[in-house]
Amino acid sequence: MKQVRIEGFGDVSQVHVREVAEPAAGEGEVVIAIAACSVNYADLMQREGLYVGGPTPPFAPGAEAAGTVLAVGPGVTALAVGTRIMVTARGGLQAERAVVPVASCVPIPDGLTFTQAAAFPVSFLTAFHALTTVGRAVAGELVLIHAAAGGAGTAAVQIAKLLGLRVVATASTEDKRALARSLGADHAVDYDGFETTVRELGGAAIILESIGGEILRRSLSVLAPLGRLVVFGVSSRDPRPVDTVKLLFRSHAVLGLHLDAIFARPELLLPSLDWLLARVVDGRLAIQVGHTLPLADVRHAHELLASRQSHGKVVLVP
Ligand SMILES: NC(=O)c1ccc[n+]([C@@H]2O[C@H](COP(=O)([O-])OP(=O)(O)OC[C@H]3O[C@@H](n4cnc5c(N)ncnc54)[C@H](OP(=O)(O)O)[C@@H]3O)[C@@H](O)[C@H]2O)c1
Repeated sequence: MKQVRIEGFGDVSQVHVREVAEPAAGEGEVVIAIAACSVNYADLMQREGLYVGGPTPPFAPGAEAAGTVLAVGPGVTALAVGTRIMVTARGGLQAERAVVPVASCVPIPDGLTFTQAAAFPVSFLTAFHALTTVGRAVAGELVLIHAAAGGAGTAAVQIAKLLGLRVVATASTEDKRALARSLGADHAVDYDGFETTVRELGGAAIILESIGGEILRRSLSVLAPLGRLVVFGVSSRDPRPVDTVKLLFRSHAVLGLHLDAIFARPELLLPSLDWLLARVVDGRLAIQVGHTLPLADVRHAHELLASRQSHGKVVLVP
């Protein structure tokens, strides 16, 4: 079967689609026939060797996918062969088939396609917990959402509106800003202008920050007293130190979020999955798949994300 492999740290020439042995399910595991899988920004960082605690080549990337249970291992009673599921894992999901623990599988609600389901867990859970668990959003507050037309960003804009927040979105092109507005953003601006807009609105109570570098530094200047800036990515590859004296005098909180912390806490994870999926099913949240490509075009998927030409999620179909 075919599987995406990263064979060394570096550029897209390190990304290959290789023939590998068929997986077999062990105790508590299932084999899934993958119908769709996402490429996330983390895949680029892992390929470049910039992902803290990430895998060492050669490795098989892919953190989220959707498909059908093909076989179940010993002791598995919770899922039957043929069940449509979505799944997250540390890797190996950009492939035709994969073996995963049954506990990490979530049945796909009726009405959701495999492509939508593969684009759902990472972005929506990250956005939800950045706003709520970490950002402690309160209805009526102003949130600044950077990279609002991306995978996590399009989820965050919609969730923020459902939580009753006012949203200022940033994105690099007018098409992307139009997408953010169509999802409910009250204001969508380019990166040059966001401070003016946020200051006119009284400062941001919450900032979702996944870029780093100058954007992180400038964002702190428009965080309101007692505001929370949530760092969940460094797409610019330029991490910055934070001045704790300024934090103190401005009453600012800078908080980090990695989804692993949520996956480790079922009491946080499971209610959030229910909350999000209920709203996806009834149409209040729309999963934004911007690009659907064959698995063989995985290098192009990396290039779309790296060049900032993608919007919404980038999904591969094996
Ligand atoms: N902590 C976690 O658990 C977690 C989970 C999911 C995602 N993330 C992080 O969240 C961020 C978004 O992930 P995603 O997969 O949804 O990707 P994405 O937002 O679809 O793509 C990244 C976007 O960032 C924007 N960007 C701004 N400055 C950039 C720069 N200097 N270089 C590249 N892109 C830049 C671009 O949008 P514009 O062209 O509009 O600027 C680009 O399209 C990433 O940093 C990712 O690592 C973290």
